Amino acid sequence: MRTPVIAGNWKMNKGPKEAAELINELKPLVKEARATVVVCVPAVSFAAAKTALRGSKIKLGAQNVHFKESGAFTGELSVAMLKEAGVEYVIIGHSERRQYFGETDETVNLRVRAAVAGGLTPIICVGEKKEQREAGYTDALVTYQTMIALSGLSADQIKKVIIAYEPVWAIGTGLTATDEQANETIGVIREAIRQKYGKRVSDKVRIQYGGSMNPKNVKGLMAQSEIDGGLIGGASLKAADFAQVVNFD
Ligand code: PGA
Repeated sequence: MRTPVIAGNWKMNKGPKEAAELINELKPLVKEARATVVVCVPAVSFAAAKTALRGSKIKLGAQNVHFKESGAFTGELSVAMLKEAGVEYVIIGHSERRQYFGETDETVNLRVRAAVAGGLTPIICVGEKKEQREAGYTDALVTYQTMIALSGLSADQIKKVIIAYEPVWAIGTGLTATDEQANETIGVIREAIRQKYGKRVSDKVRIQYGGSMNPKNVKGLMAQSEIDGGLIGGASLKAADFAQVVNFD
């Protein structure tokens, strides 16, 4: 009942020329996809990507957005700027931003509110570190991260957001959560949303898995009842690999 959403997170890869090449290679491979397909490209490649995406259903995404409308925020981009560039989705609170750029649950929430108010679909990343899982705090942590990220949104707005459950220890490491681990933790996130906002909302929210998702493990993960898609890093940089993930069924 929830349309799966597969998003590529290109991170700091692919300038304009390579972005256009990758998209042109990808387009014919995913044209029959049942899933919503998104590519989150570096900002410098928005224009080239937008042009290359013409005539396809693939959506353009960004990797971050600032919460203010404009002003003295060197290096940041506003919601309006992203929209003018043709962006429809934006990753918010990726663990790399939390780890290297001081992103907190509170700034994630500000960015989510700004994105939603401006009509962008946020892909909100949550997930535990290895030591947090080992200490038994995964459920409490992802619940807390999710609830703070969503605070201030209306039930109708929450239905439209995308959450990406990305265990930090699985990102870029080749380690993946097992199908059951991923399904269980995503179930915890959905249950937390249900308790606060009701079943009508929690049934609608799409929750992805992310962390070394690839052509080999996608089928097993996507067969789980709670998993509505994936946020793909490494495997999104090769058209053939990403297409296999997109066409998982
Ligand atoms: P990965 O990255 O697929 O390379 O592990 C996922 C992500 O960081 O979103």
